[in-house]
Amino acid sequence: MITEKFLVNSPFDEGVFAAAEILKNGGTVAIPTETVYGLAANALNEAAVAEIFRAKGRPQDNPLIVHISETDEAVPLVSHFSERAKKCAERFWPGPFTMILKRSDLVPASVSAGLDTVAIRMPSDEITRAIIKAAGVPLAAPSANISGSPSPTTAERVISDLDGKVNGIVVSHDCEVGVESTVITLAGEKPRLLRPGAVTLEQLIEILPDIEVDPAVLAEPEKGKPVASPGMKYKHYAPKTEVYLVEASGEKYAEFVNQKQNCAALCFAEDEENIKIKTVTYGSGQDPRTAAQGLFEALRKLDDLGVGTAYAHAPEKEGIGLAVYNRLIRAAGFKVIKL
Ligand code: TXA
Ligand code: MG
Repeated sequence: MITEKFLVNSPFDEGVFAAAEILKNGGTVAIPTETVYGLAANALNEAAVAEIFRAKGRPQDNPLIVHISETDEAVPLVSHFSERAKKCAERFWPGPFTMILKRSDLVPASVSAGLDTVAIRMPSDEITRAIIKAAGVPLAAPSANISGSPSPTTAERVISDLDGKVNGIVVSHDCEVGVESTVITLAGEKPRLLRPGAVTLEQLIEILPDIEVDPAVLAEPEKGKPVASPGMKYKHYAPKTEVYLVEASGEKYAEFVNQKQNCAALCFAEDEENIKIKTVTYGSGQDPRTAAQGLFEALRKLDDLGVGTAYAHAPEKEGIGLAVYNRLIRAAGFKVIKL
């Protein structure tokens, strides 16, 4: 398959409309968002949605997020847009925030992997919203990586994963947030956080005081048991390098990794001067937003280093740090060392 590339720097660029044309005609196009790059297709076209699963090698039982450009576009996709959902939309849309609600018949079952719910997000990235508007349809879009590898936060990584497998790639800015959107479900009795992101648990509690945190956010789901968010059960965000997550102070972490050979340290910028083995940094431990921004690129760089094992310095689990921890513990296959 020939993949057309569209260089886009603003929501008014020609490439926005060229990409939208492909999407209208049932094609697949990778697009930037504020969180990570997504692989988009018309969410209301089953054949187009099937192409997403094929291109990514995504398991059929892992549902997709549907992206919209205005809150009103959510209404026909769900059976009931509740007061609670409206409140969340007012507070967190547009932005890195996904709500799961009961699905209407308009949404093909394959988008939701057969579940009776649908996940909806309105991105804050103006280029993303311009593409959705120009396409004139809601866009199903999982992260634009080959299934199982870290989500791409740069156009270069999208090209290395998906060139030749999709109809188009919008080549644009690096992603500002760096980790995927916060996912909550409002389809059950109580609201529940399924995946932490840049909209933090602390912010959610202000609007939804009774929100529960799904156990899969911080621990390995039990094998064979159903999980609320199917994406949680896969070994995700995994580089080829074997990763261990190390919970320790800067001092103890440095002492620990300095005893290792043929390994790398996935550490914070401020750790670097005390570490004698190879390092890949992922932002600052003092500012978890920079850690989120740098995480996936750092995981990919680890593989470029060619070491067998890496020890990652764990972030604090507060604010967006919870999202960083959630991705890292999956990258580490739940192997945690506490010092
Ligand atoms: O930031 C993001 O959300 C990015 C960008 C492209 O918008 N997209 C993204 O999509 O991360 P994906 O497919 O990589 O992750 C979607 C997650 C998965 O864990 C999936 O299992 C969950 O959301 N999900 C989607 N629909 C669901 C549903 N109806 N019920 C439960 N979980 C759902
Ligand atoms: Mg993904």
